Amino acid sequence: ELGPYSHFMQKEIHEQPKALSDTIEAVLDNGFVPALFGEKAEALLPGVEGIKILACGTSYYAGLTAKYWIESIAGIQCDVEIASEYRYRDAWADPRHMVVTISQSGETLDTMEALKYAKHLGHTVALSICNVRESAIPRASELVFYTRAGAEIGVASTKAFSTQLVALFALAVTMGKVKGRVTAEQEAGYLDALRHLPGSVQHALNLEPQIRAWADLFAAKNDALFLGRGLHYPIALEGALKLKEISYIHAEAYPAGELKHGPLALVDENMPVVVIAPNDSLLEKVKSNMQEVRARGGELFVFADLDSHFSESEGVHVIRTPRHVGILSPMVHVIPVQILAYHVALARGTDVDKPRNLAKSVTVE
Ligand code: F6R
Repeated sequence: ELGPYSHFMQKEIHEQPKALSDTIEAVLDNGFVPALFGEKAEALLPGVEGIKILACGTSYYAGLTAKYWIESIAGIQCDVEIASEYRYRDAWADPRHMVVTISQSGETLDTMEALKYAKHLGHTVALSICNVRESAIPRASELVFYTRAGAEIGVASTKAFSTQLVALFALAVTMGKVKGRVTAEQEAGYLDALRHLPGSVQHALNLEPQIRAWADLFAAKNDALFLGRGLHYPIALEGALKLKEISYIHAEAYPAGELKHGPLALVDENMPVVVIAPNDSLLEKVKSNMQEVRARGGELFVFADLDSHFSESEGVHVIRTPRHVGILSPMVHVIPVQILAYHVALARGTDVDKPRNLAKSVTVE
């Protein structure tokens, strides 16, 4: 079943070009149309004036990424909340805001209860982004988008995350069209970007030998810091979560602009700092954050794009992901941090597919 791979996690990381192509297929065939989200979407989406995303763990980080797309492309408000927090607070509900739950398994108890609570508070339309057909959460939702990642067996989520991002990007552009903000020309550009995505992801997967070479350096450390900005801050969070759950190294993620407000105090030669540094409009800001780390003796491990001007120097290691793919860049930049976590865990000899204390589907509180 594993084929040439040593673990399900490694297999699932490498299945991402296929998982993405399969998930993108319906979008390429039909364009960004409400019908992608179910039969009732054509009638329901025009009434949606805002979006509230509820999820846990990695799925929550997919939601954090989507906020950037939804507010910028669709021009509607989007807030993202951890399901276990939302379900126990006196939340304010605007009935015109659609609830979007994100769940690989479709069975996560906190996400299910948060959905029920949102309905109770007056939200009328719920969309589920889910990888398991006919599971509990999509059954309780008016609308559904099934990601086509295939069965995910490794406890640490990988291919489910990247396909969730596709679904959420499709939602942002579809809402943008419904709101009359996306032109036909822009839509064609977004479709083209999606069409090229699996190829860029394959290119990122080919970096595995280079990333493996970094793993031994991390395996000996007790802590790691992940930095990103904008769309890539959630990718830094995801990289830190992957590393801690399978290698048991303490890892934290910060938006790079927050360094000076506290975490810089942690930085010394024992604290490796991973930087997600795509060639986007925030790159210059990220570079100055990197200088702050170097000045304190922190060793930098930078994931840069092929087309960005970067060079290795003392204490600065650089791996180049493919050419910058613009707004879809989080789907490419998540690949190296998944691979890094995998190889650090291997170097430390942990049970990669079944990390201690964790379950694949969290159906208890
Ligand atoms: C992390 C991981 C978990 C899940 C979380 C939600 O690698 O797998 O954080 O993302 O338990 O699970 P789902 O998406 O099934 O609701």
